[in-house]
Amino acid sequence: MESDKCFRNARIYIAKIYVMIRPYESSGVMTHNPEKLERADRLEELAAATTLQRFGFNEGAVLCDIGAGSGIFTFVAAGITNKTVYAVEISQNMLELLRSRTKEYASSNVIVEENIAGVPTDSCDMALLSCVLHEVADVPAMLFEINRILKTGGSLVIIEFHKRKTPAGPPVDERLSEEDTAALLEAYPFSLKDRFVMGENYYALRFVKTLAD
Ligand SMILES: C[S@@+](CC[C@H](N)C(=O)[O-])C[C@H]1O[C@@H](n2cnc3c(N)ncnc32)[C@H](O)[C@@H]1O
Repeated sequence: MESDKCFRNARIYIAKIYVMIRPYESSGVMTHNPEKLERADRLEELAAATTLQRFGFNEGAVLCDIGAGSGIFTFVAAGITNKTVYAVEISQNMLELLRSRTKEYASSNVIVEENIAGVPTDSCDMALLSCVLHEVADVPAMLFEINRILKTGGSLVIIEFHKRKTPAGPPVDERLSEEDTAALLEAYPFSLKDRFVMGENYYALRFVKTLAD
C-alpha cells in the first residue's frame, strides 16, 4: 500500500515537471523548432512539391497553409502557383520567420496571417493542415473557417502522424488515426476523396468541399 502511494506521488511529480518543461510560448502556444521541422528526413517524407501536385495543386490554385510553421509547404507552393498562398500561424516565432522568409525569398504571392479569419470567404482552392490538426485547440471552429474559405469543389488536405509508435511525432495518445480524422469531418460538407500513406511517419487524406455555404 505504502509503495502504491509512493509510486502515485512519483508519477504526479513527474507529470508536473513534464508540464513545466514542455515548450510553450508566453501566449500559451506550443513552440516548434524550425530546425526540427526542416530535418532532411522529414522534408524527404513530406515531399512538399510532390505532395501538393499529387493532390491537384497547380499554377492557377490558391492555397491556405494553416499552421504553416517555418513554411516548408508555403514557399514551395508559392513557386508552383501564380496565385496567392496564405500562410496562417498562431505562433509569434513562426510568424516572424514566415514574414522574414517572405521578404528574403521575394515571395510576392505569400500573405502571412495571424488568424484564418483574415482569409477571404470562398477564396481558396486548397486548404492544408500538415501535422497541425492534432494540435488545434478548437477543431469545430477551425473546420467552420476552412469551410468558409474554401471554394465549392476545393480540397482540404490533412497530413497527420500514423497512430502508432513511429520514429518521429508526438506521444501516440495525442495522435489522430485516419478514422479519427475522418470522423471529425463528418459533421461538415466534406467528402473523403483520397488516402495516401506518405511513409513510416505520416498519412494524408484529401477531402472535397461538396456544398456552397
Ligand atoms: C508541427 S507544426 C507543423 C508546421 C508545418 N505545417 C509543417 O508541416 O512543417 C504545427 C504548427 O501549427 C501551428 N498551429 C497550431 N494550432 C494552430 C491554429 N489554431 N492556427 C494556426 N496555426 C496553428 C503551430 O503554431 C505550429 O507552428
